[in-house]
Amino acid sequence: MSETLSNLLHEERRFAPPEAFAAAANVTATAYQEAAADRLAFWATQARRLTWATPWSEVLDWSAAPVARWFVGGRLNVAYNCVDRHVEDGHGDQVAFRWEGEPGDTRTITYAELKDMVCRAANGLAELGVRAGDRVAIYLPMIPETVVAMLACARLGAPHTVVFGGFSATALSDRILDCDARVVITADGGYRRGAVSALKPAVDEALQRCPDVRSVLVVRRGGNEVGWTEGRDVWWHELVDRQSAEHTAEPFDAEHPLFVMYTSGTTGKPKGILHTSGGYLTQVAYTHHAVFDVKPDEDLYWCGADIGWITGHSYIVYGPLANRTTSFLYEGTPNTPSEHRWWEMIERYRMTILYTAPTTIRTFMKWGPEIPAAHDLSSLRLLGSVGEPINPEAWMWYRSVIGGDRCPVVDTWWQTETGAIMISPLPGVTATKPGSAMTALPGVGADVVDQDGVPVPNGGGGMLVLTEPWPAMTRGIWGDPERFQETYWARFAAQGFYFAGDGAKKDEDGDLWLLGRVDDVMNVSGHRISTTEVESALVSHPTVAEAAVVGATDPTTGQAIVAFVILRTTEPADNLAGTLRDHVAKEIGAIAKPRQILVVPELPKTRSGKIMRRLLRDVAENRKLGDVTTLTDSTVMDLIRDKLPSAP
Ligand code: PRX
Repeated sequence: MSETLSNLLHEERRFAPPEAFAAAANVTATAYQEAAADRLAFWATQARRLTWATPWSEVLDWSAAPVARWFVGGRLNVAYNCVDRHVEDGHGDQVAFRWEGEPGDTRTITYAELKDMVCRAANGLAELGVRAGDRVAIYLPMIPETVVAMLACARLGAPHTVVFGGFSATALSDRILDCDARVVITADGGYRRGAVSALKPAVDEALQRCPDVRSVLVVRRGGNEVGWTEGRDVWWHELVDRQSAEHTAEPFDAEHPLFVMYTSGTTGKPKGILHTSGGYLTQVAYTHHAVFDVKPDEDLYWCGADIGWITGHSYIVYGPLANRTTSFLYEGTPNTPSEHRWWEMIERYRMTILYTAPTTIRTFMKWGPEIPAAHDLSSLRLLGSVGEPINPEAWMWYRSVIGGDRCPVVDTWWQTETGAIMISPLPGVTATKPGSAMTALPGVGADVVDQDGVPVPNGGGGMLVLTEPWPAMTRGIWGDPERFQETYWARFAAQGFYFAGDGAKKDEDGDLWLLGRVDDVMNVSGHRISTTEVESALVSHPTVAEAAVVGATDPTTGQAIVAFVILRTTEPADNLAGTLRDHVAKEIGAIAKPRQILVVPELPKTRSGKIMRRLLRDVAENRKLGDVTTLTDSTVMDLIRDKLPSAP
């Protein structure tokens, strides 16, 4: 890491916003001054972007810290704010989504149409008995119904939990059980890599473990054959299409739960991150307006994330819709039918703003600059990055090859827990540095501290903390307040700082450089996966006695999963690695498949029995071993090395 650091800190390139961009930008430097003068007044101003049925009486109640209450006493309906009010304001004909399926089929949905769809779905869910407070699980491909399903839940005050379609049946059932969802919304299947990928069978399998689920609402998308449980399963088109398009949106308390999004922590069990209504919507709307500079009447905005992750929730659904954005939505993979797909669509639709992850950018770099160069990308005016540290090479490539050296690049740091972007340049204000997320946004407090919680001076490195409560902050881990306190707040309790779990550096100007996780969480293609989660999946296979998993640096995916396993048998079976990789995919999902599985005779452990992943990471990255003195038996590492293929 120290080598990366010194490279990063020699970065001297600066890219000031183009003059015309700065002159027309939604947000100027005064936002920093306003927020610094009175942070709560600043957030109250932002909350007025929304339409409230009842005004709040207090901006922030922090008396029950670390569980915040923002906009106390205020009432609003999130779906009304995302849809109805725009129609009432005369924008019903404006397009909310231009959608394209992977096979090339298209749909255009105006705000008026979206309103009808959401009302019908809300009436349909109500017919299934869904009431305010009930949890609804959503397991869908990237189709407009996914947005509609989320908004219908929000409209009813029923918190949704969207499970990424790439997760396995086991992962799905864990999530359904943890938040006790009684209704599941899914599809027969969706298109991926040129074929229908079935979803319903995973739901059927998951529900064998979830006896309390009474209804499964199934969207027809793939047209594939599906199993059917009479009395439980119901087609979306049969239930929803016959409903009335009238539905009165009831206002809910600002702190009413909006959704639970599961994410990996340092233990095997995913955490249900809870977000509520008023503060969350305020900050996603503000940051979407400020960071992406969206002009509702002009832009066509595309966030290439999956709706099943927090980025999709905040910057495909809630932020953009609250701001009356016209968005593009795409179902499939970037190389179907060819590696030209993304750029061909950006050219054809004349998209103006693109938000994606470094791993995607690096994949396109690998495919070659001639692919985007074959398309007219001159409509683009702003580029965003999220999910993992972006290396300066990828940043520069994004800026020049995709952005034609004309588009500001905003590297946005945030997390499932923060709900909204926290650290990012403002595109009309900040002179950016390739690879730096720059500074905290107006109204946000961030710093880098040492082990004792003392802020490091400029030029120093340490751990990233958030120093002030923020409106979109999680209100806790579903059903586990102790774990919430322990994970994020215990470490710097004396200072009252939120511990993000990321390492960071402040450069000589005080700008922030994010360096990746400091805990046992891996970041693979921008997806958070815990080492223990993969280890538990591996040891649940009958041939594995013990497993240790590390994230090793990977040129495309950021990190890749490397697993070290001790077997119960002496002779490894044929294709053991393949079997174990498939087993992990079945237990968690394909995203958690190890890149490499190495059979070893022992694992390096400290005297207290803790696996020293640091040493295994050295092996996986083919580096000289670090300090081995705390190992019970330092010869273990020689044994491991001996077993390895020449270059890991
Ligand atoms: O390590 C940081 C990394 O992703 C983690 C959060 O993951 P998740 O909750 O899945 O949310 C991802 C999308 C917001 C962080 O703790 N991360 C996210 N964005 C960046 C980043 N690391 C560096 N730079 C970023 N821009």
